[in-house]
Amino acid sequence: MNFNETLTTKVQNIEKIIKQFLPEETGYQKTVLEAMNYSVLAGGKRLRPMLVQEVFEAFGGTGDVAWPFMAAIEMIHTYSLVHDDLPAMDNDEYRRGRKTTHVLYGEAMGILAGDALLNYAFETAFRAFDKAETTKYPRIAKALKVLAGKAGIYGMIGGQVCDIESEDSIEPITAEQLMFIHEHKTAALIQASMMIGGILAGATDEKVAELERTGYDLGIAFQIQDDILDVTSTFEELGKPIGSDEKNHKQTYVTIYGLEHAKAEVKRLSEEAISLLGLDSDSFLAKLFESLIYRSK
Ligand code: IPE
Ligand code: IPE
Ligand code: MG
Ligand code: MG
Ligand code: MG
Repeated sequence: MNFNETLTTKVQNIEKIIKQFLPEETGYQKTVLEAMNYSVLAGGKRLRPMLVQEVFEAFGGTGDVAWPFMAAIEMIHTYSLVHDDLPAMDNDEYRRGRKTTHVLYGEAMGILAGDALLNYAFETAFRAFDKAETTKYPRIAKALKVLAGKAGIYGMIGGQVCDIESEDSIEPITAEQLMFIHEHKTAALIQASMMIGGILAGATDEKVAELERTGYDLGIAFQIQDDILDVTSTFEELGKPIGSDEKNHKQTYVTIYGLEHAKAEVKRLSEEAISLLGLDSDSFLAKLFESLIYRSK
């Protein structure tokens, strides 16, 4: 199988795993459950659960203890998108090729679906305890700590706060502020995915720190590429509106450094990530990192 075929098979497998953990659409709170499932099942690249799984396997992990975390991280990521698209934030009407959650279900339900996905992510991740022997509980506890931290005020939420505030600032943001935004709003969940994969497989603290550094590079590169695509891609390809950053007067890597420098930085950081982990260039993980440099969506 070539890389693209392997990738498709892996994404299909991840979709099956995620589906197992989604709530049944019954009960008086049915509307929010539908809105949650609508948002998660719209597709997407499934990069974060894929990183959990690939790193877990690369560190010798076996069994299904990582599954609840794979579903959980995708729920948290999806909630971040649902809220990111709200009128009060980026105010976007399409996501993953479909109407955004708040457009279809109304703003209140969009907010609640995001809240619900965040909470349900933890309910789901806790189910890892049902899948492991008690001797493995400390690993799960450690993974939960990473998940909570990287999603929170010192992680993704912190980055979104600074991203939103930077829209209104008359002063250009500094290079340091831009890196803070990218590191937190985007790299944090990518770091969490890689660290959790390693932790659950029993990686040493030193290795987990390496995964965190690699996730930093990969995450920054991922957001720079997202900013590039916001300028150079099409709605059809992305499944979300282009020009969203310009519309919101967002200061991005592209507005600050220009397209060419941004592209070069994506390449440099992705290659650095591959070498940081000492990946064999033929390995799926190295090819996955590489594919992100040239991704078109
Ligand atoms: C979009 O993430 C938001 C960013 C952090 C750039 P993805 O590009 O991973 O979105 P999906 O999951 O594939 O839709
Ligand atoms: C969002 O960054 C990162 C999140 C934490 C959701 P963007 O606002 O650039 O993501 P898109 O372009 O809407 O996917
Ligand atoms: Mg945003
Ligand atoms: Mg956005
Ligand atoms: Mg964007």
